[in-house]
Amino acid sequence: MADAPAYVVEDLIARDIDAYLETHQHKTMLRFITCGSVDDGKSTLIGRLLYDSKMIFEDQLAALESDSRKQGTQGAEIDFALLVDGLAAEREQGITIDVAYRFFNTEKRKFIVADCPGHEQYTRNMITGASTADLAVILIDARKGVLTQTRRHSYLCHLIGIRNIVLAINKMDLVEYDQATFDAIVADYAAFAQSIGIKSFTALPISGFRGDNITTISPNTSWYRGPTLIEHLETVELLSSVDAEKPFRMPVQWVNRPHLDFRGFSGLIASGRVAVGDAVRVLPSGKMSTVTRIVTLDGDLDQAVAGQSVTLCFADEIDCSRGDVIAAAEQPPQAADQFEATLVWLDDDPLRVGRGYWLKLATQTVSVTIQQPKYVVNVNTLEQLAAKTLDLNAIGVTELTTDRQIVFEPYADNRTLGGFVLIDKLTNATVAAGMLHFSLRRAQNVHWQALDIGRDAHAALKQQKPAVLWFTGLSGSGKSTIANLVEKRLHALGRHTFLLDGDNVRHGLNKDLGFTEADRIENIRRVGEVAKLMADAGLIVLTAFISPFRAEREMVRAMLPAGEFVEVFVDTPFAEAERRDVKGLYKKARAGLLKNFTGIDSPYERPEAPEVHIDTTTVSPEDAAERIVALLLAGA
Ligand code: ADX
Repeated sequence: MADAPAYVVEDLIARDIDAYLETHQHKTMLRFITCGSVDDGKSTLIGRLLYDSKMIFEDQLAALESDSRKQGTQGAEIDFALLVDGLAAEREQGITIDVAYRFFNTEKRKFIVADCPGHEQYTRNMITGASTADLAVILIDARKGVLTQTRRHSYLCHLIGIRNIVLAINKMDLVEYDQATFDAIVADYAAFAQSIGIKSFTALPISGFRGDNITTISPNTSWYRGPTLIEHLETVELLSSVDAEKPFRMPVQWVNRPHLDFRGFSGLIASGRVAVGDAVRVLPSGKMSTVTRIVTLDGDLDQAVAGQSVTLCFADEIDCSRGDVIAAAEQPPQAADQFEATLVWLDDDPLRVGRGYWLKLATQTVSVTIQQPKYVVNVNTLEQLAAKTLDLNAIGVTELTTDRQIVFEPYADNRTLGGFVLIDKLTNATVAAGMLHFSLRRAQNVHWQALDIGRDAHAALKQQKPAVLWFTGLSGSGKSTIANLVEKRLHALGRHTFLLDGDNVRHGLNKDLGFTEADRIENIRRVGEVAKLMADAGLIVLTAFISPFRAEREMVRAMLPAGEFVEVFVDTPFAEAERRDVKGLYKKARAGLLKNFTGIDSPYERPEAPEVHIDTTTVSPEDAAERIVALLLAGA
């Protein structure tokens, strides 16, 4: 590769700024990540790339100049050392926050490098940095060879779908540029790479500190025949050009309808190409049409390709909205609602098995529940271990179920339609990143059966409006007592009711469940489903369960038509429930004979806005029941 490309660029800027901007604009961009710890020379390598391409930010340059003036030093080597120190310090300060992104460019390409922290506790940062990368530079200290962290980083990069792996064997100057050392490390790494499915990688002997094989071929490694690092980065195939050759897919971001005569569907093309006249299919509906126009901010196009944002117009007025996927008519992606996937857990709060999360995949957002992991992967040894949940930074394989079909492709085929995030419904935090493997066949073979007698018909025959009176509160708070009184009154008034009680249901339908968090979530999920079926049958359902978690109570609320879920908070302070101790359970729990007891070593999340709030220290069960019946009849 030619020497000092930066000067050529400087000449061009001086001569013709327009020509410079023109070439600059049409350069491709490579995103890559660097993995390895500071000891491996990561900051030095990044410093070297920035320094040799003369793309240090102006303010950084100014700071460096004034620093070297202050210290009375001069010359490139000193500036370089200062730059590296600066990068290392910045990295240390920023380490707990996120990934540091740096920009530089050469004659041929623009680059964004994500500098990811190396320690295991920063797995999530690495996943963030790697998720958009075309390439990963895995640094190895030539004196140390392949280490645990090399394996961990390689595994994560492979997992996230990075196909271009560069093994940068650094600090070659400290092993006398010895070819045998280099070859032994490459052989060692090759064996490991193969074991985790990495098909190929490019190994380079370098010294970030001395600059060997970074921008110029080093005379010190005359035995090495490959490219320099920059040369490799400049020529490696980009993900976007690989994606361009795949079947056409565009997730719809929004429907563009500025006036009645124009209706277009806007989005970023995830893969493939589209041309005017192409037959397309809208998923999941399967409706077909033909592309009549491809509109962009810079005017109409005849065709467009992966990576471009466009608005498509169709020949027919077919239904298509945000979340749908427009695809090549003859090669549509699948839709399903049950999957196997790998999850990387990103939140301090662990996975709650069975709880509803939002799943965002491309422009689709659906509700999803996650099963207990099949296994988690120890990222250091790559062993598969049994686990009940996923904690921060854990990587596990699980099955998941969405509440409606989503259009997808396996992550290995398409990152956009196979990659997703999970979002906590209450806090809105992104709690996991995931990669779909495949859909489960059972999802495709179970269909909704349309029934002739609907819920309205059931309710009409009973001459009542169905409802679910959901009693929640601590053990011994009085839920069952009040629910029982309410049911008696409703029954006397000729209403069709049914009372589902925690202690009873746990003897039958839910006898396989205990009191761990996951079991309580499953308990409420099942009870919610049963209550919903009973409401569909036209009944007024009463449930008396502690139901300690807000998320599950809200889940049941969301399962029912608006207004049908009536949350009744039976508010008995913990001290009072313990004093009453009707079943003697508080005493047992205090004595350590009962684990996970609500209010002692298991939480109770109070309702924030219940439809009915009963303070049992001031209201008698009879009065409480009266109030609830009155409220219900007022709404009926
Ligand atoms: S929930 O948390 O899953 O909603 P549920 O209402 O079904 O609980 O069951 C609670 C009843 O189980 C309590 O009223 C009590 O009689 C009994 N119980 C036994 N062990 C526990 C425990 N560890 N925590 C709470 N209740 C328990």
